[in-house]
Amino acid sequence: MLPIEEMRAKAQGATALQIAFIGVVNHLFSLLHELGEASPQELAQRAQLDAGYVERWCDAAYAFAWLERTADRFRLSEEGDAMRPEHPESRMALAIGTVLGAHMAERAAVLMRTGERPGEKVLAERESILPWFGPMLEQTFRPIFTQMVLGHLPILAEVDQRGGLVVDLGCGNGWYLRALLHHYSQLRGLGLDGFEENIRQATELAANEGLSSRVQFAKGDIHHFQLGEMADLIAMNRALHHVWEERGELFARLHAELRPGGALLIWEPAWPKDPQVLREAPYRAMAFQNLSEYIQGNHFLRPEEIENALQEAGFRTQVHELRSDVLVEARRPH
Ligand SMILES: C[S@@+](CC[C@H](N)C(=O)[O-])C[C@H]1O[C@@H](n2cnc3c(N)ncnc32)[C@H](O)[C@@H]1O
Repeated sequence: MLPIEEMRAKAQGATALQIAFIGVVNHLFSLLHELGEASPQELAQRAQLDAGYVERWCDAAYAFAWLERTADRFRLSEEGDAMRPEHPESRMALAIGTVLGAHMAERAAVLMRTGERPGEKVLAERESILPWFGPMLEQTFRPIFTQMVLGHLPILAEVDQRGGLVVDLGCGNGWYLRALLHHYSQLRGLGLDGFEENIRQATELAANEGLSSRVQFAKGDIHHFQLGEMADLIAMNRALHHVWEERGELFARLHAELRPGGALLIWEPAWPKDPQVLREAPYRAMAFQNLSEYIQGNHFLRPEEIENALQEAGFRTQVHELRSDVLVEARRPH
């Protein structure tokens, strides 16, 4: 058995991230970066927050070394600085993921008693978490996309050459299309998502990045959308497992929406065949997320299941491994 001190140390790791979460969603790390140093009262005033809460947060953030202090004035430690969402190597996603995890664990504990699976609305139950989904996913997956996909997949260059249309279904905050458009100067994008907040963020970020003329984001349902032209590429990132039950009808429709020679690019966590693999670090997180997905009516998929379903729908498939994820490229034959 692990010594109790080691278990306590692990538990304190989670507490540290819970405290960081409070600072992230109230912009306290960013404000302290801007101010250099501040008393809790000054910080509270600038952030328009309650001074009593901010004072206690500063003590807790100091205790967990997110902040340094001199008397009653606080400044960011190096780790605290990396909690700023704007930091080039920001670790903010860990803080958001930890509190989201606590929320999902509580829901699973209660729902397990009845078997109820309330769907995606559980994600919207916490007002402070909801706006941070997009940034959390962007921070976690955009670096992998940049390193392993951009510039590596011939289909992307092909679509770019003809100024083709890439449709991103379940686009979240639009990071995927924004990253694609920065890398490839001619291709155009359309992102659809069911959450209004995601579309608001995606539209604003694209405008700030000077991409509005080549990309559009709109609220839409993966099951009922209409394109004004045939797509060259249809991407689904971590969205297929949300609509897997309707895959037969969905793949038939996507086949029809794609130009002959065009492709689907489907990025999903790769649920392992061998359960022992779940003990490895990235798969541990996947196993817990699969429990949260169950609440939402979803489950993670094995890469062969995705490939088989796509082949049955008439696509030619090619599988690319992305660490513990899989990217399935599925061409509509000419
Ligand atoms: C796990 S998130 C992934 C978001 C984004 N693709 C990314 O990789 O960051 C799944 C997304 O699919 C969207 N979604 C799920 N079912 C949908 C549906 N039927 N129609 C439109 N969007 C849907 C959700 O709103 C959510 O933004």
